[in-house]
Amino acid sequence: MTNPAESGKATHEIGRIYDAISDKNVLIDFFLQTVLQFIPSSRGYLFLAGPDRRLWLESVILTAKEAPDDLIAAARGAFEEGKPSAKGTRLFLPLIARNSSIGVVCFERDKEFTPEEVGIGFNFASEFSGALKNILLFEENIKMERLAAIGQTMAMLVHEIKNILQLAKFSDEMIRMGIREHNEKFLSRGMEKLGKTLKDMDGFIWEVAGLSKDYQLEPEAVNVPALVEELRRDLSERAEACQVKLEFEAEENFPEVRGDSRSLYRALLNLVKNAFEAFKNHPSARIKVHARVLDQERYELTVEDNASGMSDEVKARLFEEFFSTKGKRGTGLGLMVVSRTVKMHQGTITVESKPGTGTKFTLNLPRNFASRK
Ligand SMILES: Nc1ncnc2c1ncn2[C@@H]1O[C@H](COP(=O)(O)OP(=O)(O)O)[C@@H](O)[C@H]1O
Ligand SMILES: [Mg+2]
Repeated sequence: MTNPAESGKATHEIGRIYDAISDKNVLIDFFLQTVLQFIPSSRGYLFLAGPDRRLWLESVILTAKEAPDDLIAAARGAFEEGKPSAKGTRLFLPLIARNSSIGVVCFERDKEFTPEEVGIGFNFASEFSGALKNILLFEENIKMERLAAIGQTMAMLVHEIKNILQLAKFSDEMIRMGIREHNEKFLSRGMEKLGKTLKDMDGFIWEVAGLSKDYQLEPEAVNVPALVEELRRDLSERAEACQVKLEFEAEENFPEVRGDSRSLYRALLNLVKNAFEAFKNHPSARIKVHARVLDQERYELTVEDNASGMSDEVKARLFEEFFSTKGKRGTGLGLMVVSRTVKMHQGTITVESKPGTGTKFTLNLPRNFASRK
């Protein structure tokens, strides 16, 4: 198998296979195997180098993952030299890609290696180095992208926390003033703001926790009209300030349902908040929240607005995490967690929306939801 013409063709073809492998470990294994096919050896050691040119033993073949000290020293020498060499019963092939050394591989056996084998081995090593370097660059890129994504997420979270903190400071200021000046009005206003701060914090935690894999519901008996009433209370001030007419409707004698009451409240609140944010100076802005029993098994919650509506693209991407059209003002987490919440309740969420006309979200939920352990 060591005929030069044959091996030249083989290296080229195997090089193409190397290039097609995208997993580092698979590539390394395959490389060591192919060299053994052409250059019979008893053992193989593959060292990689970091940016500081320090070597570590990345992989071995036909031996335990340990290398004798003199072999490590010789490998270092071959790595520094950057040339293939046969030193007695050891063959050293530096791994060079784009003019930089990325490691070295050593094969060992009882018999000396021939100059021809050195040449063949070096050809394989060159093909392998190019393919490996591509994988390493790709991994490096992914790391950078991940870091950038984490940075972005952090910036967004910090922005949200700052908003909440601002509100907390404002409440604190009000309460202090109330105490200092014995002014009930300031005091109660401050307490009210503090309550809102806590709710915002709660909502923030809900959004972030909803991102996590082990987000879980805490099912209990839910009083739907009471939820709707709580929403009305929490939003009435904002509605007045924004001149949005809020309509809340829950059927009379609404039966108790099972679900995670806090999560359902958060889901509704998020839908209504989005509706608020979709208005731009609308002369007769209106948001309608409606709860109705459908049959013995299911009930429905709808949130409808006559705001801007959405384009087909927005509609298609709505539930993606971090998808937002609001720039710095949006987290793009709200609807993602809403849809997760609904799914975990074994319900469905649908949206109807038309640009310029408005949007309607419908949550269809089971009245008796059995939590899965
Ligand atoms: N009622 C609505 N009317 C118009 N657009 C909406 C409405 N609800 C959601 N959207 C669109 O869906 C996007 C994602 O919403 P969401 O996940 O809550 O993130 P965020 O509110 O932080 O942007 C919003 O940026 C907006 O473009
Ligand atoms: Mg939102």
